[in-house]
Formats: sequence, structure tokens, C-alpha cells
Amino acid sequence: MKPTQTKSWSAIAEYFHQIKDQKIVDLFHQQRLNNFSFDFNGIYFDFSKHRWDEKMLSLFDNLATEMKLSEAILQMFSGKIINHTEQRAVLHTALRQQNDIPVYVGKQNIIPQIKKTNQKIKKFVDKVVSNQWKGITGKPVTDIVNIGIGGSDLGPKMAVEALHDYRNHLKLHFLSNIDPFQLDNIMSEINLETTLFIVVSKSFSTQETLTNAQNIQQIYIDKYGKHAIARHFATVSTQVQKAEEFGIHPDNIFPMWDWVGGRFSLWSPAGISIPLAIGYDNFDRLLQGAYEMDKHFQTSRFNRNLPVIAAFLTVLYNNFYQFETETYIPYTEKLKFLPDYLQQLLMESNGKYIDKENNKVQWQTGNIVWGNTGTNAQHSFFQLLHQGTKIIPVHFIAEKHNKNTSFANNHRILLSNMIAQSEALMKGEKNEVPYKNFEGNRPSTTILLDEITPQTLGQLIAFYEHKTFVEAWLWQINAFDQFGVELGKKLAKNVLSDLNNNSISNHDPSTTQLIRRIKA
Ligand code: F6P
Repeated sequence: MKPTQTKSWSAIAEYFHQIKDQKIVDLFHQQRLNNFSFDFNGIYFDFSKHRWDEKMLSLFDNLATEMKLSEAILQMFSGKIINHTEQRAVLHTALRQQNDIPVYVGKQNIIPQIKKTNQKIKKFVDKVVSNQWKGITGKPVTDIVNIGIGGSDLGPKMAVEALHDYRNHLKLHFLSNIDPFQLDNIMSEINLETTLFIVVSKSFSTQETLTNAQNIQQIYIDKYGKHAIARHFATVSTQVQKAEEFGIHPDNIFPMWDWVGGRFSLWSPAGISIPLAIGYDNFDRLLQGAYEMDKHFQTSRFNRNLPVIAAFLTVLYNNFYQFETETYIPYTEKLKFLPDYLQQLLMESNGKYIDKENNKVQWQTGNIVWGNTGTNAQHSFFQLLHQGTKIIPVHFIAEKHNKNTSFANNHRILLSNMIAQSEALMKGEKNEVPYKNFEGNRPSTTILLDEITPQTLGQLIAFYEHKTFVEAWLWQINAFDQFGVELGKKLAKNVLSDLNNNSISNHDPSTTQLIRRIKA
């Protein structure tokens, strides 16, 4: 199936030419806001400040129907092998399922093993949080270091930061980069006697994670002997045997499954630093929130379906308006890692030029995702959003209440800025002086959480996961593999061997020169 060859795609293209130059402000009629805004369990979504109307939405609805999106959703939730390149099911949704309805991978119902693993996590977390877990010298844990990268870092780090108000006494650190600067810094902040390291690696083969973990293990072995490892290391991986060989005690190994993609894994044991930071019950509420969004995604008709609508907008801008990027601006420091997390989620999933039939696509796929917190971003790149030659759709995300601040007025200033930015981008302002003129008509989505709670955060993340999936489906690409990261990894091995040995293997002149300079 090629999206561009569907009847609905042609209909969208035709209608697009009629409406593309219309001003968003002129599209507001009595019902528009009502049609394009939604309240969902403590989150308000406003899709009205966009360069579309009800008819365009209904044409996209037709596209999704013609492309059998409902079947695709059903296939994902029911464990069909939709990651066809790796022959895997995609079941991050099963991790947060709140009932016992069986979900099969092959012939096996995976719900019991998820429940059993969650019990194991709960027990482990309770022991650490209640100070019963003791380090090698008998002291309780004060610090947790999550060693992992990509999906084994970004999701948990984002959630732990976002749920700051729910944090317990444990101090969390995230060690991801192979840059020793990060390792040195973390090592200077922690006390070996009271720190627990969690090695999170789905594949247990990621160079950065394993090297960092080995470095730290060696420090323990040198100082306290091998038996210290069981008291200071736990791991999460699909590769249980490799983890054991690495020296991790079997009791401290939490399973992962190949039906959970790294960037979709914060609900799995890979997200274990989240319950460690906020307690298991709050982690459970995060899962419940995601489940609420899952149900909404599975059961709502497309023109009332939040992730589907958000994905329609991305396809409209990417493939028709040809806007190549979208920016995510959380107006809350709590979500400062959200743009990083979304970059992996959206770009590692949808940055692909081969379609499901193994042909090179003849249409644009995954767009470029970036962002930073407001109001900081207003004082850096917002100039380009307002007066640049490129049009960049924005997602504004904020929380309405910040109960824990002693500076409520500052919070109001923060929100006033966000609202004003979306208004300014849309309305613009005429000015005789050309460089003071604002053309406006620049689109944005606003997502207003009543409060960032485990539940609303779970809903928000699941919303973005499903948005990613719908886009991939409409572009007919596989959102769940990531072969594009492999070539760089392979070549890095060659370069490292060149750096370590006397001779240099065959490269282009530029690469050879770089290697020479580093060796010199
Ligand atoms: O290199 C990309 C990647 O495989 C991501 O997809 C993944 O999230 C990250 O590396 C870490 O992988 P792992 O959990 O297997 O160490």
C-alpha cells in the first residue's frame, strides 16, 4: 500500500491547495474550538490553532480508514508480528494493561510474566527505598546510578525529572555517555558504599553501557573484592545469560523482552529507576495513566482520537505544507528532558526511507524533532519561529497548577508567556516597518496538564507513542526497528582499532587525517 496512491491522499492534496493560504484566525467560527479541543482525564488538548479545518480532518479520517489504521492498531495491541524486519511483536501496551485479559506472543500469554516481574521489581524497590538493602559495608543506599543509553536512559530520566514532586530520599544519576567526563563527575558525587548501579541494556551489547559498567565494577572489585558486585549492581536485559557472565547476581537481574522496543521501554523493568525514585505505587499510577490513553486510542473514532489527530497534523505539515521540522516546548522545567526523549521516540522510529514493501519511499517520512523549555527558548530561537522563512509547528506543553511552589506568581508569568506565544505566532501583527512586521499564521498545539502527576504523565507519554505509531503507519514504514544506527557502530570499531594500533586501515583521506591527528 502506498499512501500517495490512495484516493484519500489525492483528495487531501486537492483540498490542501484550496486552504493552504487561509489564515487560521479567519477559520474560527462558533464550533471550531469545540471541534478541535479535548479534555482527557486532567489534560486539555487544543488543536485549533492549526492550518486546517473540519473538512481537512475528515479527509484525513478517510485516509486512515482507507489505509486500515484500525486493523493496524488491533494488530499491535494483540501481539501480531508488526515489526516485520526483526520478526517481533510490539507490546509495550501489554506492560501497562490493567486487567488479566491474555495477550499472546506466539502461543504464550505474556501477562503472567509481566505481573510476576512487576512483583519482583516492587519487592526490590521496596527493599531499597525502605533502607533494608545494604551495601558491602552494611550501609543503606543513598544513590542510584542508571547506566544506560538511548531508550535505556531518556525515558526514565525524563520521567524521574518530571515527577520531581513525588521523589523520595534517593538521589538519582543517569550515566549514558562514553565520554569519561560524565563518569568522572558521577563518581565524584557518589559514595561507593551507598550507591546502587543499575545496568540497563536490552541487548547487553551496547558499547557505552558495558564499558561504563565494567569501569565501575572494576573499582568495586579492586576495593572490596568480587562479592561486592551482588550488593551494588542490578541489571535489566533480555540477555540474562550475558548479564550473569558479566557478574551480576541472578536475583538482581530483571528480564526485558524482545517485544518491547528500547524507546518504548520505560514501562518495563528498563524504567526501574522510576519506581526507585518515586516508589512503586506511583510507578503503577504512571502505568495506569498510559493504559487510559491506550483505551482511548483503541476505541475512539479517528476525528476524536488524540494521538491520531496529532499524527494527522504532522503528516499534513510534513507531506503537504512541506514543513520539515516540529518543535516541542515544555513550559515547565519538570519536562526539560521531554524534547530529548521525543527526539529518540519520533526520529529513531520514523527516520526511514524504506517502506514496508522494501521499496524506497516516494514521499517524506519522519520529520525533524527538536525543542527546549520555555521561557528560555523565547530568548534563543523563537525569533526564527516568529519571523524566519521556515514555518515550524509547535507543541506547547505546560501544567496548569504547580502546587509545590512558593512563587505562584512566577508560575502565572510562565503560563502567560506560553499562551501569548501561541497567540502571537498565530495572529502576527502588521507593521509598516518591514522588520517589525509579523506575518503570523504559524501553527501550534497546546497541551495543558492540570498537574504533572504519574497518571497524567503516563497519558502524555502514551499519547506521543501512539502518535509516532500512526505517523509510521500512514507513511508505511516500520517504526520499531533502527538499523540506521548500526553502520556508525560498526565503523567506530574499526576506528578504535586504528587508534589503538600502529597501522591505520583503509579510509578516505579526510577520515585518515582525523585518525592521524588523534594518534599524534
Ligand atoms: O543504538 C540504538 C539503540 O539500540 C536504541 O534503540 C536503544 O534504545 C539504545 O541503543 C540502547 O540499547 P540497549 O538497551 O540494548 O543498550
